[in-house]
Amino acid sequence: MKNKEPLILAVVVFFTLVTYYLVEPFAHGVMHKHVESEGFVYADLPAITKTGDAATGKELVMNAGCAGCHSIKAAGMPAPMDAVMSAQSYGVNPPDLSNAGALYDAKFLADLIKNPAHALNVEHKFDAEKGQMHPMVAFYGMGGDIDQEIADMVAYLQSIAVKPEEVTSTMAFENACGRCHAVGYENWTQIGEKPKFKHEKDGLAFDIKVMEYQDSLKAYMGKLPPDLSMYIRSRNEHFISTLVENPQNHLAGTAMPRVGVTAHSMEKVIEYLEDAGDTKRHERAAIGKNVMIYIVIFAIFALLWKKQVWRDLH
Ligand code: HEC
Ligand code: HEC
Repeated sequence: MKNKEPLILAVVVFFTLVTYYLVEPFAHGVMHKHVESEGFVYADLPAITKTGDAATGKELVMNAGCAGCHSIKAAGMPAPMDAVMSAQSYGVNPPDLSNAGALYDAKFLADLIKNPAHALNVEHKFDAEKGQMHPMVAFYGMGGDIDQEIADMVAYLQSIAVKPEEVTSTMAFENACGRCHAVGYENWTQIGEKPKFKHEKDGLAFDIKVMEYQDSLKAYMGKLPPDLSMYIRSRNEHFISTLVENPQNHLAGTAMPRVGVTAHSMEKVIEYLEDAGDTKRHERAAIGKNVMIYIVIFAIFALLWKKQVWRDLH
């Protein structure tokens, strides 16, 4: 009988290649839609055409009542209500605006002030014509050129914020995501970092406040946004970045808003999630390098040893 082994090998190789190059990518593509990042440019939002003046912008921000809902700690303005009461009024605690000018894209901020549901990409939930108003009240102008007024307000927010390159991972996460998402591994709750309490009673009182906050948030969002401790592992960086850039691309109809972070702030958000869920990543990379060095040295010795053993036999 002829040797059948080459034929069997060919059949196995053929089906392995078909599975690897055709079936697997197809199945993967169906299960996980691939979404390309647009580089956080927000091309659908109109460009700012006016040059803003920060001093005028300060007056406007005060008169427009932003501080009636938001704290602006950098300008010495505390929160008008605590997080739980804010969430009872607005569904979610409006974030502090001290560093908004650095965290968010300028075009996004301008559009947000004019039409929150549009910038946040939640017009499917908030249709003003049907009386579904977004809890952040739109700015209708102070009687002058509204685009100039908004450019001034954005310039003011940028003037009180840290420099864009000074945005830290905690700052980015807490401002852009922290009002909706807990991160248990970092002790982060939607109402802030849970302190270490001396008395258990105080810890429980804090937990109850978190639950009250979550009740309002659930009613606002339709469901409780998930704890993000392990998301950097269960979903990858690409998924999270493209989700934040435009949640509708991944989850059509979702209540999660587009928060309008800059590309740099997004990198910082990812860094925060890596620090929470993938603490050993630097160690892992370092060990990988050492293992490669070990293998190379070992291979050299193995080669020399083999040569020595065979030398006498030839
Ligand atoms: C106003 C509330 C809100 C904010 C702010 C917010 N999210 Fe979400 N997020 C949600 C809700 C609600 C869901 C659940 C979405 C769904 O299932 O439709 C969600 C889901 C997610 C998911 C899980 C998606 C999935 O497929 O399982 C990730 C990851 C996420 N958000 C990341 C972020 C990050 C990172 C930020 C900050 C840059 C952020 N979110 C800001 C409300 C929010
Ligand atoms: C009536 C209350 C209210 C007023 C007034 C208000 N906001 Fe807000 N703002 C909110 C709420 C509520 C949210 C959170 C919405 C959400 O997450 O769905 C928010 C969110 C924001 C955000 C974060 C957006 C993001 O993408 O994460 C910024 C920045 C902001 N507001 C700026 C302003 C500025 C500037 C003004 C004044 C022109 C202002 N707000 C006036 C209630 C208000």
